[in-house]
Amino acid sequence: PSLKKVFANDFAIGTAMNTRQIEEKDPASDALIKEQFNVVTPENIMKAEIIHPGWDRYDFDLADKLVAYAAKNNIRVNAHTLIWHSQLPAFMQHMQDADSVKQFFQQHITTIAGRYDNKVYSWDVVNEALNEDGTLRKSIFLEKLGEDYIVDAFRLAQKAAPHTKLYYNDYNIEQPAKRAGAIAIIKKIQAAGVRIDGVGIQGHWKTGTVPFSDIEASIRAFSALGIEVMFTELDLTVLPNPWDNATADVGATAQAGEKMNPYPGGLPDSVQQSLANDYAALFNLFLRYKKNVTRITFWGVNDGQSWLNGWPIRGRTNYPLLFDRNFKPKPAFYSVIKAASSN
Ligand code: G3I
Repeated sequence: PSLKKVFANDFAIGTAMNTRQIEEKDPASDALIKEQFNVVTPENIMKAEIIHPGWDRYDFDLADKLVAYAAKNNIRVNAHTLIWHSQLPAFMQHMQDADSVKQFFQQHITTIAGRYDNKVYSWDVVNEALNEDGTLRKSIFLEKLGEDYIVDAFRLAQKAAPHTKLYYNDYNIEQPAKRAGAIAIIKKIQAAGVRIDGVGIQGHWKTGTVPFSDIEASIRAFSALGIEVMFTELDLTVLPNPWDNATADVGATAQAGEKMNPYPGGLPDSVQQSLANDYAALFNLFLRYKKNVTRITFWGVNDGQSWLNGWPIRGRTNYPLLFDRNFKPKPAFYSVIKAASSN
């Protein structure tokens, strides 16, 4: 079965594409992407450090390649991301002069959003601007441009890319305090008469502790603002995090190392099943709100490609996605397919 087919009347189904995939060096991924997904987000290659490496130097090669691939295969591109505090080009990172930051900000948005208008479907215009308590995160943009920088980013993007959907994207914004911060950002953009088309809840959650009721409350709260709601970087880690109390001794001993990487040789059936149950429950929830939820994007094609093998601890073996390291569908894949037919 195919995810994009079974959810065709409900929402778009996406994956992140990593650099090797975009370079067409990964035929197994390629086959699966064409079969399963109708929208892709570049995992890294449209971030500022890669696409805008020098003050007036841009590198559009991979982004152009991605756009051509998508057009050829009838796949949409959600471009990621214009304004983010992380993965900034080296020349930007310690820029002191506010006028230079402003000039970078304007040129960056105008040049890149302009080039890809009519070529990409949507942009994550601003990514991760919030702290967990809902206040604005400290960044070079906040510091040098002031708190209106988010509205300004959307205004510039709207001007440069009038045919492209414009989104705010962040993690943990299903949590009440951070959600309130996101709502404030969206309302401020709307009050300024600037267009914002949707909000992306990233969806980096953990098997066994998925915050279902906060997710549902967030779908309702964001939809009430008249915008699309999307889950944009979905994955469910099956491993303990260092900040979980029981594993706070991470790194201290070899035993802690094992605790942090408990399944190097494969996922036990019980965990495999919990993952499948959580994915099924999530998709059942998304389907109840299919009028509001427009896209679900997984952050990677298969388990071997997930960023969660390297974060927050390097060298772990994680299993957060629907396809295993051999591109075989996992029980979680079939539970998601089943959710489609039972709704
Ligand atoms: O490609 C280079 C390679 O040439 C170099 O030798 C190597 C050395 O570190 O780095 C490679 O680049 C890495 C890149 O991933 C490609 O694998 C970067 O170091 C690494 O930082 C980068 O990580 C990405 C991360 O964002 C950066 O913050 C992850 O792939 C990507 O999945 C992750 O995605 C983010 C979203 O953009 C925003 N939301 C959270 C999400 C997960 O962190």
